[in-house]
Amino acid sequence: MQKSTLLFVFIFGTNISLHLVSCGEKINPKKDTTTVEVSEEDVIKNGKHLVEIMGCNDCHSPKKVGPKGPEIIEELLLSGYPSDRPVVTFDSKLIKEGFAMFLSRP
Ligand code: HEC
Repeated sequence: MQKSTLLFVFIFGTNISLHLVSCGEKINPKKDTTTVEVSEEDVIKNGKHLVEIMGCNDCHSPKKVGPKGPEIIEELLLSGYPSDRPVVTFDSKLIKEGFAMFLSRP
Protein backbone atom coordinates (compact mmCIF):
# COMPACT_ATOMS: atom_id res chain seq x y z
CA MET A 1 0.00 0.00 0.00
CA GLN A 2 1.32 3.48 -0.86
CA LYS A 3 2.11 6.02 1.86
CA SER A 4 -0.61 8.40 0.64
CA THR A 5 -3.21 5.60 0.68
CA LEU A 6 -2.24 4.64 4.24
CA LEU A 7 -2.44 8.26 5.32
CA PHE A 8 -5.88 8.58 3.72
CA VAL A 9 -7.14 5.39 5.43
CA PHE A 10 -5.77 6.60 8.78
CA ILE A 11 -7.34 10.08 8.53
CA PHE A 12 -10.65 8.75 7.17
CA GLY A 13 -10.85 5.99 9.78
CA THR A 14 -10.00 8.35 12.64
CA ASN A 15 -12.56 10.84 11.42
CA ILE A 16 -15.33 8.23 11.17
CA SER A 17 -14.48 6.86 14.65
CA LEU A 18 -14.53 10.31 16.23
CA HIS A 19 -17.78 11.10 14.47
CA LEU A 20 -19.46 7.91 15.68
CA VAL A 21 -18.25 8.48 19.24
CA SER A 22 -19.42 12.10 19.32
CA CYS A 23 -22.79 11.31 17.69
CA GLY A 24 -23.26 8.39 20.07
CA GLU A 25 -22.76 10.77 22.99
CA LYS A 26 -25.50 13.06 21.73
CA ILE A 27 -28.15 10.42 21.12
CA ASN A 28 -27.45 8.10 24.04
CA PRO A 29 -30.73 8.25 25.98
CA LYS A 30 -29.12 6.72 29.09
CA LYS A 31 -26.71 9.62 29.50
CA ASP A 32 -29.22 12.40 28.74
CA THR A 33 -31.88 12.10 31.41
CA THR A 34 -32.79 15.79 31.50
CA THR A 35 -36.41 16.49 30.59
CA VAL A 36 -37.41 20.01 29.74
CA GLU A 37 -41.03 21.06 30.07
CA VAL A 38 -42.02 23.48 27.33
CA SER A 39 -45.26 25.37 27.73
CA GLU A 40 -47.53 26.29 24.82
CA GLU A 41 -46.71 29.92 25.60
CA ASP A 42 -42.97 29.19 25.15
CA VAL A 43 -43.62 27.44 21.82
CA ILE A 44 -45.61 30.44 20.56
CA LYS A 45 -42.96 32.86 21.82
CA ASN A 46 -40.24 30.85 20.04
CA GLY A 47 -42.28 30.79 16.80
CA LYS A 48 -42.77 34.55 16.99
CA HIS A 49 -39.02 34.99 17.48
CA LEU A 50 -38.23 32.74 14.48
CA VAL A 51 -40.70 34.58 12.22
CA GLU A 52 -39.16 37.90 13.26
CA ILE A 53 -35.50 36.94 12.82
CA MET A 54 -36.09 35.14 9.51
CA GLY A 55 -37.77 38.15 7.94
CA CYS A 56 -41.17 36.53 7.20
CA ASN A 57 -42.88 39.84 7.98
CA ASP A 58 -40.79 41.59 5.33
CA CYS A 59 -42.98 40.09 2.63
CA HIS A 60 -46.02 38.63 4.38
CA SER A 61 -47.18 41.56 6.56
CA PRO A 62 -48.73 44.73 5.10
CA LYS A 63 -47.00 47.97 6.07
CA LYS A 64 -47.83 51.63 6.43
CA VAL A 65 -45.38 54.48 6.28
CA GLY A 66 -44.53 55.73 9.77
CA PRO A 67 -42.11 58.37 11.08
CA LYS A 68 -39.17 55.96 10.62
CA GLY A 69 -40.31 54.45 7.32
CA PRO A 70 -42.38 51.31 6.65
CA GLU A 71 -44.04 49.82 9.76
CA ILE A 72 -45.97 46.59 10.13
CA ILE A 73 -49.71 47.12 10.58
CA GLU A 74 -50.11 44.96 13.72
CA GLU A 75 -53.78 44.08 13.11
CA LEU A 76 -52.84 42.76 9.64
CA LEU A 77 -49.79 40.79 10.82
CA LEU A 78 -48.88 37.98 8.38
CA SER A 79 -52.08 38.49 6.39
CA GLY A 80 -50.32 38.90 3.04
CA TYR A 81 -50.98 41.56 0.47
CA PRO A 82 -54.35 43.26 1.13
CA SER A 83 -56.81 42.26 -1.57
CA ASP A 84 -58.34 45.75 -1.61
CA ARG A 85 -55.03 47.38 -2.55
CA PRO A 86 -54.34 47.84 -6.25
CA VAL A 87 -51.64 45.67 -7.77
CA VAL A 88 -48.91 47.94 -9.05
CA THR A 89 -47.90 47.42 -12.66
CA PHE A 90 -44.32 46.29 -12.97
CA ASP A 91 -41.77 48.19 -14.99
CA SER A 92 -39.54 45.42 -16.37
CA LYS A 93 -36.64 47.88 -16.82
CA LEU A 94 -36.33 47.88 -12.98
CA ILE A 95 -35.02 44.29 -13.08
CA LYS A 96 -31.84 45.58 -14.78
CA GLU A 97 -31.44 48.01 -11.88
CA GLY A 98 -31.62 45.16 -9.35
CA PHE A 99 -35.24 45.48 -8.19
CA ALA A 100 -37.67 42.60 -7.68
CA MET A 101 -41.42 42.67 -7.12
CA PHE A 102 -43.70 40.12 -5.50
CA LEU A 103 -47.39 39.99 -6.31
CA SER A 104 -50.10 38.36 -4.25
CA ARG A 105 -52.15 35.62 -5.79
CA PRO A 106 -55.65 36.58 -6.91
C1 HEC B 1 -38.69 37.82 0.05
C2 HEC B 1 -40.11 37.74 0.38
C3 HEC B 1 -40.56 36.61 1.29
C4 HEC B 1 -40.09 36.31 2.54
C5 HEC B 1 -38.98 36.99 3.33
C6 HEC B 1 -40.86 35.18 2.99
N1 HEC B 1 -41.77 34.84 2.05
FE1 HEC B 1 -43.14 33.35 2.21
N2 HEC B 1 -43.74 33.72 0.31
C7 HEC B 1 -43.29 34.75 -0.49
C8 HEC B 1 -43.96 34.67 -1.77
C9 HEC B 1 -43.74 35.63 -2.96
C10 HEC B 1 -44.82 33.57 -1.71
C11 HEC B 1 -45.74 33.04 -2.81
C12 HEC B 1 -44.95 32.08 -3.65
C13 HEC B 1 -45.83 31.51 -4.74
O1 HEC B 1 -47.03 31.74 -4.78
O2 HEC B 1 -45.26 30.80 -5.59
C14 HEC B 1 -44.66 32.99 -0.39
C15 HEC B 1 -45.35 31.89 0.06
C16 HEC B 1 -45.31 31.41 1.35
C17 HEC B 1 -46.13 30.35 1.87
C18 HEC B 1 -47.15 29.57 1.08
C19 HEC B 1 -48.45 30.27 1.15
C20 HEC B 1 -49.49 29.61 0.26
O3 HEC B 1 -50.65 30.03 0.32
O4 HEC B 1 -49.14 28.68 -0.48
C21 HEC B 1 -45.81 30.17 3.16
C22 HEC B 1 -46.41 29.16 4.15
C23 HEC B 1 -44.76 31.12 3.47
N3 HEC B 1 -44.48 31.86 2.35
C24 HEC B 1 -44.16 31.24 4.70
C25 HEC B 1 -43.07 32.05 4.94
C26 HEC B 1 -42.32 32.04 6.16
C27 HEC B 1 -42.61 31.12 7.37
C28 HEC B 1 -41.34 32.96 6.02
C29 HEC B 1 -40.22 33.29 6.99
C30 HEC B 1 -39.35 32.18 7.35
C31 HEC B 1 -41.47 33.55 4.70
N4 HEC B 1 -42.53 32.97 4.09
C32 HEC B 1 -40.66 34.55 4.21
C33 HEC B 1 -42.38 35.71 -0.14
C34 HEC B 1 -41.63 35.68 1.01
